[in-house]
Amino acid sequence: MNNNIHQMRTKALEAMKNAYVPYSNFRVGACILGDDDNYYPGCNVENVCYGLTICAERNAISTMVATGGKKIKTIVIVADCDKIIAPCGSCRQVMCELANPDTKVYLFNRAGDCKITTVIELLPNAFDTEFLNAKDNEKIKLDQITSKIPPEPITAEAID
Ligand code: THU
Repeated sequence: MNNNIHQMRTKALEAMKNAYVPYSNFRVGACILGDDDNYYPGCNVENVCYGLTICAERNAISTMVATGGKKIKTIVIVADCDKIIAPCGSCRQVMCELANPDTKVYLFNRAGDCKITTVIELLPNAFDTEFLNAKDNEKIKLDQITSKIPPEPITAEAID
């Protein structure tokens, strides 16, 4: 494991210690390396209104943006469990927004075992800005949209 990743893991572990987890007692830490070569740590912060909980990854990414980072270069995630952590779906989508598809993601368990993956591997076929920029997105009336619904059910192959 290169020195940089080791350093990022240390920062993620430090953040993990600060996790606020009275409900799950499941601690997660993250460290983002920004395009400005700064490190951005984050931990999970839970809430009595469970749905308001923020994951460590999104916390770190938000801190990057709030302090001037524009793009994610590398992501390290650690969790205080035996299994190597797998980031949740929301965090995968947020990573896609500010990283490149081939951006590396280093996932660790408590013992320091590591799985190296990429943003595209974590979320293939993501909803991305291409959909919003598509030429056929001109504003059309709802009745026109309805009339475009195909008469036959869409098969799984057609969606691919
Ligand atoms: N959690 C994270 O912080 N990151 C993940 O990738 C998975 C889940 C947190 C959210 C919650 O505080 C706790 O883990 C249990 O779901």
